[in-house]
Amino acid sequence: MRKTLLIVSMLLFLDTIVQIYLAAFGAFSERLIGEESFTPHMLNGQIVMRSLALLAILFAALARSGKSTIWLTVGIFLLTWVQLLVFIVGGILTGASAENPSIPGAWTVSIHAVTGLLIIFSAYWLMLRARRLDRTGSAVMARTQEPLAASS
Ligand code: HEM
Repeated sequence: MRKTLLIVSMLLFLDTIVQIYLAAFGAFSERLIGEESFTPHMLNGQIVMRSLALLAILFAALARSGKSTIWLTVGIFLLTWVQLLVFIVGGILTGASAENPSIPGAWTVSIHAVTGLLIIFSAYWLMLRARRLDRTGSAVMARTQEPLAASS
């Protein structure tokens, strides 16, 4: 189970890099293919990334990786939904939409890139934890003992 968690977390991290690449593809090809340019990014986020995040929750639990690591996987899964929520809330707050874009709307939904970065960092953090769990049997670093106070 520990190896599987490691493999899933590596795939998840790799997928976040693919996701940012697909976002760049969306931006650079928009003038050529229009709105469709973000479809690969959207599908990867909705299907591949969410499925890997779900598998990470499952294997973090099965591998007994500890509460904080399981919560980390849950956080990553929830953050993939925050990515969608940013568009919905941004649209409601500013009245903007794909058909009716506006500058305030663009400023607001651009938070999506920052929360996306949070997913990348979290997936990297999970991968480090999964590797530690696989090597040492514990996902978190053991606390070092407090140095004894120097006796006078
Ligand atoms: C850096 C610039 C980025 C841009 C311009 C961008 C843009 C977009 C767009 C236009 C969509 C489709 C929204 C829709 O119509 O439903 C989308 C979806 C999504 N993006 Fe990004 N994105 C970026 C970065 C990221 C990053 C770094 C991540 C995570 C690593 C990410 C994760 C997602 C996810 C999970 C979805 C699917 C949301 C859903 O529809 O349920 N994005 N993004």
